[in-house]
Amino acid sequence: MQWGKTVPESRPGVYVIAVVGQAGAGCEIAADYLPPAIRKRWLSNQPIVYIGCTTRPLAVRISEFYGHVYGMPSPHRGGQDVLLLTCDRRVYWAVAEDPAGAEEAMIGAFLTEARHLPFANKKRSKSASKLTKGHYAHMNIKKVGVLGCGLMGSGIAQVAATAGFDVTVLEQEQKFLDKGFAGIEKSLTRLVERGPEKGGLTPAQKTEAQSHLKGTLNMQDLADCDIVIEAIIENVAEKRKTYAQLDAIVKKDAIFASNTSSISITELMTATKRPERFIGLHFFNPVPMMKLVEVVKTIATAPEVYDTAVEFGARLGKVPLRTSDKTGFIVNRLLVPYLLDAIRAYEEGVGSITDIDEAMKLGCGYPMGPFTLLDFVGLDTTYYITHVMYDEFKERRFASPPLLRRLVLAGWYGRKSGKGFYDYADPNKPVPGEFV
Ligand SMILES: NC(=O)c1ccc[n+]([C@@H]2O[C@H](COP(=O)([O-])OP(=O)(O)OC[C@H]3O[C@@H](n4cnc5c(N)ncnc54)[C@H](O)[C@@H]3O)[C@@H](O)[C@H]2O)c1
Repeated sequence: MQWGKTVPESRPGVYVIAVVGQAGAGCEIAADYLPPAIRKRWLSNQPIVYIGCTTRPLAVRISEFYGHVYGMPSPHRGGQDVLLLTCDRRVYWAVAEDPAGAEEAMIGAFLTEARHLPFANKKRSKSASKLTKGHYAHMNIKKVGVLGCGLMGSGIAQVAATAGFDVTVLEQEQKFLDKGFAGIEKSLTRLVERGPEKGGLTPAQKTEAQSHLKGTLNMQDLADCDIVIEAIIENVAEKRKTYAQLDAIVKKDAIFASNTSSISITELMTATKRPERFIGLHFFNPVPMMKLVEVVKTIATAPEVYDTAVEFGARLGKVPLRTSDKTGFIVNRLLVPYLLDAIRAYEEGVGSITDIDEAMKLGCGYPMGPFTLLDFVGLDTTYYITHVMYDEFKERRFASPPLLRRLVLAGWYGRKSGKGFYDYADPNKPVPGEFV
């Protein structure tokens, strides 16, 4: 390991940039630091891996600046790894001679070296005081746990495995695991058919992704996960019970994330003893296709956990947007009243199911109409969401229309159960129902 305060003019290999210290400020400095000649020669032709904590706009800025996607799973692709550290307007770099152990070695060396940095002096800044081994541990997500292998859990597991993480998915019964894994197989096959040039995968990437995936019925198998993402039924009591059990099993510095669409993250968080390491990661259906992930912080979430979650979202190939713990977050706050209004419009005879769907496609350019989307999301899930949102806001626009309740009572949950607003006996030719 070599250390220096001036980045050398030329170094071959793979570069790892870690920005530590003040979130944001460090990143600005890193982006501004490298002289153009070095930037060009070093970075335009080399993979670059950004690790560190920062705000998303700055993380994007630094990755765009260097012309590479930040957050590749592994920096160890051979050659020499260089670590660039910025802190308190100083930049430190290191070269690890052993690429295999580079990241560990760098972090270890940095923690030693950090004693000499300004923030390690008596007047420690707030952010610097968080620079402990634990601080780094959460930033180094390797193993991902997923709770539930339904629509969302299977999708989340798939994208995490495709991004190179080891993923363990927990289910209640083997048949649900089998169903979820069959869905993953189908989705990966479609991505291979599409091919890498159109954003799909190669057959080798599919095999690689599957090698990272494991299903289990035993919660103990999640004990060593770095992050656990919950995607079980949208029910507060069930989620809280599950988190309470999990809290005693999963290692203390792991992050807990919920994919809930509407339940307060704060309410879920209080079922555990790790409030500062609890966040929302709200993915969209179908997860492998939809680019957005809402990253939700509570009043208790530690800033570095929030940043790590944002970065993790990006490493999954998603666009993470930050939001706070207000029921429905950004998308459902706006989407759910719209979907419920479509049902009310249908109940009032404004139009047929297909006409309302077509109207919103042709008139607004939406990719699918509200009833197709409702069936896709799951009517049971939507119904649960209405309860939570109505309870929070006490506004009629969030209340469930009677027809939604009838369909759920009948067990017609939409596409996943074969029947909802449409009948999916032939999945390629859904037939609209007549309910009024
Ligand atoms: N469906 C959507 O479009 C969508 C979008 C974003 C977020 N969400 C949220 O994601 C979560 C899951 O939704 P979904 O649509 O995937 O539901 P789903 O019904 O398809 O899947 C839920 C799965 O969780 C399993 N499960 C239930 N309790 C469990 C437990 N204690 N341990 C392990 N597994 C358990 C069930 O067996 C089922 O397979 C909900 O919180 C929902 O609000 C859904």
